[in-house]
Amino acid sequence: MLDKQIPSRQQSTTIEQYGTVTVLVNNVGLTNQHKDLDVVNLDLEEWDWLTDVNLKSILLGSRFAIPHMVKAGGGSFINTASMAGFTGDSVRSAYGASKAGGVNLTRYIAAQYGKDHIRCNGVAPGLILSPAAKNNMPQVVLDIFAKFNALPYHGEADDIGYTVPFLASDESKFITGQTIQVEGGHLSANPSISDFNVYVNKAKSN
Ligand SMILES: NC(=O)c1ccc[n+]([C@@H]2O[C@H](COP(=O)([O-])OP(=O)(O)OC[C@H]3O[C@@H](n4cnc5c(N)ncnc54)[C@H](O)[C@@H]3O)[C@@H](O)[C@H]2O)c1
Repeated sequence: MLDKQIPSRQQSTTIEQYGTVTVLVNNVGLTNQHKDLDVVNLDLEEWDWLTDVNLKSILLGSRFAIPHMVKAGGGSFINTASMAGFTGDSVRSAYGASKAGGVNLTRYIAAQYGKDHIRCNGVAPGLILSPAAKNNMPQVVLDIFAKFNALPYHGEADDIGYTVPFLASDESKFITGQTIQVEGGHLSANPSISDFNVYVNKAKSN
């Protein structure tokens, strides 16, 4: 279960301070590389915890805000997904499944409340060099991600930071139910392309 004290305290503070809520970024997210493993070996309690934090948090935040948005004449949600919500992987099954759930919950909210002028979109980051990622990820892992990005550099916090205000603003007023992948083309490139390039370059030099 999520700590119900945290949302209720934040909810009353938000409404007291701002009067209403018309933009909500459901950004909270957790992963656990030690307990969230492949389907046979993952820890079931961790599955519940990660789906609560990564997916149920979107439900709870949204159902609090929707009545306020309806009253205000509209609003915009931005839910933080992940590249892991669009692919399979050898581990982190709960993280990937919960993020994929968030991508589809985004569509459900868009479908259910669009006529109330409420839009619901998502942003799906690839590897972003947040301070935590910079401090905790070994260079070899960063190199693997760089190898499979279509672009020759890593994502930075600003790349998400420019996408979210766009989705919050009227500049995106005809976009709803979408999750924008901000991942340097990681999922656009055929996974074999880097190895194939080695082959092509070798063939050219012969
Ligand atoms: N950094 C990346 O490379 C990356 C990649 C894909 C997706 N994401 C997603 O981006 C979002 C932000 O991640 P980040 O990299 O900035 O990590 P982060 O750890 O800096 O941010 C996560 C935030 O969630 C909060 N949080 C965690 N558990 C909570 C709980 N039970 N109750 C209330 N708050 C809680 C933390 O306090 C923190 O502020 C997450 O949803 C994450 O899954 C990040």
